[in-house]
Amino acid sequence: MEEKQIPAHIGFIMDGNGRWAKKHGMPRNFGHSKGAEVFKKTINWCRELGVKCATFYAFSTENWKRPADEVEGIMNLLRRYIKDIRTYAKDNVRFIFIGDISQLAEDIRLELFDIMETTKENTGFIAGVALNYGGRDEITNAARILAKKAVNGEISPEQITENSIEELLYTSEMPPLDLVIRPSGEQRLSNFLIWQAAYAEFVFMDVLWPDFTKKNLEFAVTEYSARNRRFGGI
Ligand code: IPE
Ligand code: IPE
Ligand code: MG
Repeated sequence: MEEKQIPAHIGFIMDGNGRWAKKHGMPRNFGHSKGAEVFKKTINWCRELGVKCATFYAFSTENWKRPADEVEGIMNLLRRYIKDIRTYAKDNVRFIFIGDISQLAEDIRLELFDIMETTKENTGFIAGVALNYGGRDEITNAARILAKKAVNGEISPEQITENSIEELLYTSEMPPLDLVIRPSGEQRLSNFLIWQAAYAEFVFMDVLWPDFTKKNLEFAVTEYSARNRRFGGI
């Protein structure tokens, strides 16, 4: 495939862990831990295909609605994965945690900030991980920052542009989002990268995330490469 046919930035909505667990007669958190293994492998598959950046939706601002033991299980899984993330970091991967991570437990928050800081100069691949992320929350936050600047007289309302909003999004240092892949059979964004996805391509797949394979990824990328992106032109 030519380079332009390979998406620079793929967003993965890692959905279907709960249904996968149910199908195997296991607790939902078992599905989440299977899903986390696939997350690790997907980073490698993306690199092998020449993708430069991938963002993984791991926990949404709406997922706090789930039973406390499930939320707790996901947070403990994250604690365990922090070690693996550090191993990847040695492989020239830059990690950017997107979402309001200030609301996470202090031990997790400190680790995440530290990983972001220590991997800042890595150039091999950008891995975005969306934790307590909501697209509406992200845009609201940008609006609030700009409103404060306007009230303080630092900018005029006319100076608020698409670019000035974009610079305040969590993804400002990532390449534009080209492709969103959602397994699990659901066909919706569920508040994932709603601004960034304005002109992204979508591939919805019936596979549950813990069963997602490199073949599924290759299928989605091939599908993407056959799309005609017009961006409003002809
Ligand atoms: C996605 O899998 C993981 C998170 C939202 C944390 P789900 O837990 O939503 O799995 P299903 O949709 O119930 O199968
Ligand atoms: C989206 O999945 C969030 C993540 C994958 C982290 P959900 O399972 O929360 O989405 P809905 O509720 O089906 O829309
Ligand atoms: Mg789900």
